Amino acid sequence: MSDETGSVSEAEIAVHWGEEAYFTPPESFVAQANLTDRDIRKRYSLENFPNYYEDFANLLSWDRKWDKLLDSSNPPFYKWFVGGRLNVSYNCIDRHLEKYRNKTAIHFVPEPENEHIEHVTYQELWVKVNEFAAFLRDKVGVKQGDRVTIHMPMVPELPVTMLALARLGAIHSVVFAGFSAKACAGRIVDSESRVLITMDGYYRAGTLLDHKEKADVACDEASAEGQKVETVLVWQRYPGRYSSPTPLKAGRDLVVNDELPAFRGKRVAPVSVPAEDPLFLMYTSGSTGRPKGAQHSTGGYLSYVTWTSKMIQDIHPDDVYWCMADIGWITGHSYIVYGPLALAASTVIYEGTPTYPDAGRPWRVAEELGVNIFHTSPTSIRALRKAGGGNPEKYNYHFKHMTTVGEPIEPDVWKWYHKVVGKGEAVIVDTWWQTENGGFLCSTVPAVDKMKPGSAGPPIPGIHPMILDEDGNRMPAGTGKAGNICIENPWPGMFQGIWHDPDRFVATYFTKYNKNPKSKDWRDWPYFAGDGAMLAADGYFRILGRIDDVINVAGHRLGTKELESAALTVAGVAEAAVVAAKDDIKGVMPEIYVSLQPGVEANAAMAKKVSDAVAKEIGPIARPRKVWLVPDLPKTRSGKIMRRILAAISNNNPDTGDITTLANPEMVEQIQKIHQAG
Ligand code: WTA
Repeated sequence: MSDETGSVSEAEIAVHWGEEAYFTPPESFVAQANLTDRDIRKRYSLENFPNYYEDFANLLSWDRKWDKLLDSSNPPFYKWFVGGRLNVSYNCIDRHLEKYRNKTAIHFVPEPENEHIEHVTYQELWVKVNEFAAFLRDKVGVKQGDRVTIHMPMVPELPVTMLALARLGAIHSVVFAGFSAKACAGRIVDSESRVLITMDGYYRAGTLLDHKEKADVACDEASAEGQKVETVLVWQRYPGRYSSPTPLKAGRDLVVNDELPAFRGKRVAPVSVPAEDPLFLMYTSGSTGRPKGAQHSTGGYLSYVTWTSKMIQDIHPDDVYWCMADIGWITGHSYIVYGPLALAASTVIYEGTPTYPDAGRPWRVAEELGVNIFHTSPTSIRALRKAGGGNPEKYNYHFKHMTTVGEPIEPDVWKWYHKVVGKGEAVIVDTWWQTENGGFLCSTVPAVDKMKPGSAGPPIPGIHPMILDEDGNRMPAGTGKAGNICIENPWPGMFQGIWHDPDRFVATYFTKYNKNPKSKDWRDWPYFAGDGAMLAADGYFRILGRIDDVINVAGHRLGTKELESAALTVAGVAEAAVVAAKDDIKGVMPEIYVSLQPGVEANAAMAKKVSDAVAKEIGPIARPRKVWLVPDLPKTRSGKIMRRILAAISNNNPDTGDITTLANPEMVEQIQKIHQAG
């Protein structure tokens, strides 16, 4: 476990959760489930690798079948379905038209409760995607392979934009709308985007936010870093009305809703791309300051999310499926947009805050739309529970299936989710995976495996995880000890690499446990996930949390280095160290310890400046719970900041470990006093 970031404390808490009793999947669920084969993991054993991945690819419509299922000649760079060609928007829309033309593809729920819910049928989605793709191609000049940055909120125009780009074979890079202009700029620069697609405004917790403002700042910042954005496309939250106080910039900005009428009736043939062409980039935090662009493929990615959506989410075309994540994160890409639409389901997009205007909102939406599959994070579940739960029993909805994702879920919270939200009727899957993985890696198969609160469960069929100790030895099941979870085999959903940075890809995910960098055998290249985990005697994995310099706040990954460098932008700040502090709702939250330059006064205004700088540089989700102004940070004699000690203090853990080797051991007591004084 890390001794630097404080994630050790989170892990320790999880390790001490006791073993829980199993819950059995309800018969009614099993009777209708897509996957009931109890031998599935035997069929998908390593002896049969990689052939079983044909089943995944066979869920898609290919323009040309692959010649080679897996090319593993250059590990850890793998090519899946080599020679195959397909188009993602065809698979998510066109192929459903014959049977499901009039079926709802997207239910859009605006945050203001007095606005009508919009139901977009597959036919309508097809028309919108075609017209927008024609506009992108013919007016904006977007071509196959171009990268386009999207900074949009939770509105149906977001999947329309993604699918239109995919139709053209262009690569999208969606930036979470809550991220700052600066974060958006960094992603524009790294992906070399010439086009930015945004929206004028959107609702969040009752306020219509000005979102266009961020596009202007992002373009200025990007151009200062050498990447000029030539075109900004602005969707209108209310078509026909511009809802932002920020003016349009002539020559650069185009209002999409004004342009589209010229493309009415235009159709764009889906560009048939090689399976290995990238579909999108998704930036995620790592242990250095620079977010990395996880590059996902077309054929492998779509096969993987479609199979897992069908078998683990148990999505049928008749289901109304609601994942409350944001499309700006990987969960939203895989399990709001691509997986559900590839299966012709109806997917719900909710614009706003789940507890707005009250905690009953999700249940009113579920009742009104007949949602029967529900997917959210432990943070949202904890927030709903704290807000009193919103009385789910008052609303007439029935979930057959519920998902939790993004963080470890406490067994108590799991049981509340099961009993109160699921009314004791729903099966639950606790799905563990990461941005880099494309789709789920560990989860129960809902009709086959029993549920165990607090444990993600066995591997997804076909995935072969193992727990390795620091020296690379495989740890047996049932020891009660934690180690590093790794995946033995490649899988089609796994990212192809970090955009423009193959060395960082190898160094971050493979070097730790690769014994021979020249080896051409995939067995020598286990994927190192960066999570601590335990394997129980029953084969269930319990994920304990990050072991690197990443803090998982409300299921969102934040790099401690990113927060620290944001704090250092404040004049007068000398040094900054970020730690993860346990939080009742969000799992953990960042706290920042800051030392000031000589002569700078430590006061509340200064602490606020640091906090504001972090929110501005990264986004409000990164705002620290507390900024501690301290005379100096505890350091080793070689000058290394001891974050472990600060984490113990933030978590009210009296055991700060051995401090005798510090250069300034007296600091520990002083900081403890500052902490106690609040
Ligand atoms: C954590 C989100 C415990 C984990 C899909 C991982 C989880 C990081 C779970 C990835 C889970 C995700 N139980 N921890 N079910 N799911 N995590 O890239 O630490 O935003 O490494 O992907 O979230 O976060 P990311």
